[in-house]
Amino acid sequence: MEKIRLNMTVNGKEIDVLTEPRQLLAHVLREELKLTGTHIGCETSHCGACTIDMNEMSVKSCSVFAAQAQGANITTIEGLGTPDGLHLLQEMFKEHHGLQCGYCTPGMITRAYRLLQENSNPTEEDVRFGMSGNLCRCTGYQNIVKAILATAEKMSEMKESA
Ligand code: FES
Ligand code: FES
Repeated sequence: MEKIRLNMTVNGKEIDVLTEPRQLLAHVLREELKLTGTHIGCETSHCGACTIDMNEMSVKSCSVFAAQAQGANITTIEGLGTPDGLHLLQEMFKEHHGLQCGYCTPGMITRAYRLLQENSNPTEEDVRFGMSGNLCRCTGYQNIVKAILATAEKMSEMKESA
């Protein structure tokens, strides 16, 4: 099949990738760009494991053709934190035991990132509603919600002391 060339900004870097028009964004991120932090669970837009941030929106990358991301600004979990410099959400997930097997975690954290960008002072209900497109089969959600609320609290403390 003839390939198409796409340009996009991924984790702050401009990239140029050749791919087939039928390819899903999740596969291009993982296989062409080696950003394997974006996980694939259901591939039917139900589980949220493949959630990324695209043009300031949470997007399930298994339900988007890579071609639809032409010119887009994308952030994956690799763009939020590094092993030596965790994002505050990653620190809070660690501190509040917001993960067990970790399979859902990159999607949870990229979704929580956008949720907190949109609402920096969410209630527990806001968090539960905002995260309802992301499924976890291990944690029972309680600690994920706690970790996100703790992140919001720390963010507001940091703002006040700035
Ligand atoms: S793999 Fe994309 S929503 Fe499940
Ligand atoms: S921590 Fe295992 S699926 Fe969420």
